[in-house]
Amino acid sequence: MQPRDRLVFPLDVPDLETARVWIDRLAGEVGVLKVGLELFTAAGPDAVRAVHASGAKCFLDLKLHDISATMASAVRAAARLGVEYLTVHAVAAPAALTAVRDAADGSKTRLLAVTVLTSLDADELTAIGLAGPPAAAVERLARLAVRHGIDGLVCSPEECAALRRSLADDVLLVVPGIRPAGSERGDQARVATPGRARREGADLLVVGRPIRHADDPVAAARAIVAEIAEANA
Ligand code: C5P
Repeated sequence: MQPRDRLVFPLDVPDLETARVWIDRLAGEVGVLKVGLELFTAAGPDAVRAVHASGAKCFLDLKLHDISATMASAVRAAARLGVEYLTVHAVAAPAALTAVRDAADGSKTRLLAVTVLTSLDADELTAIGLAGPPAAAVERLARLAVRHGIDGLVCSPEECAALRRSLADDVLLVVPGIRPAGSERGDQARVATPGRARREGADLLVVGRPIRHADDPVAAARAIVAEIAEANA
């Protein structure tokens, strides 16, 4: 995998026109572009097509969670669009995880499970009946997802090293909350530099605002790719 194929830029924008500006700007610099709930709700499959037309891979971040049959149908639809990565919630539980794995079988779509959203703290988890330390729930849900054939996990920089140690090498770890040294944290409580995340076992690094808010986004993306390449060496 080329270093730039490890860099994921989220198209966190409200419409296709704005997305196209970023796609044109970053195509060739960033290997993967992420289409999330906002853009997909506004623009639908055209957003995925615009990403593919640029030559980048598409990460469709829909965090699916529904009954098994509905999730499986959605996964088949995403696979027909040819998305390379698609997120589902691990709390959807075994039957649904098996159903989505079967639905993606034979396609190029790799499924990634979200364990515990990083916006949930221990109090919020207790409020929905999930008592106990969030880290234990992350580990439990990660193992559950992998056991049911999910290809990878989305995890915070704080969770990455422990998951890398406890899971097989071929489980993809996708890590947001990446901040190059000296950049603003924004609302991310737990952050790591690209080099550190990579050394701790992250396969894909999601970097949004440090690129989007940079004076020169292309230069910012190139610097991150260079840091990934250095950590690979
Ligand atoms: O780099 P920046 O903080 O702007 O990246 C934000 C992106 O990462 C968003 O697309 C968001 O959905 C995603 N993300 C996150 N924290 C998580 C999981 C995903 O910020 N725990």
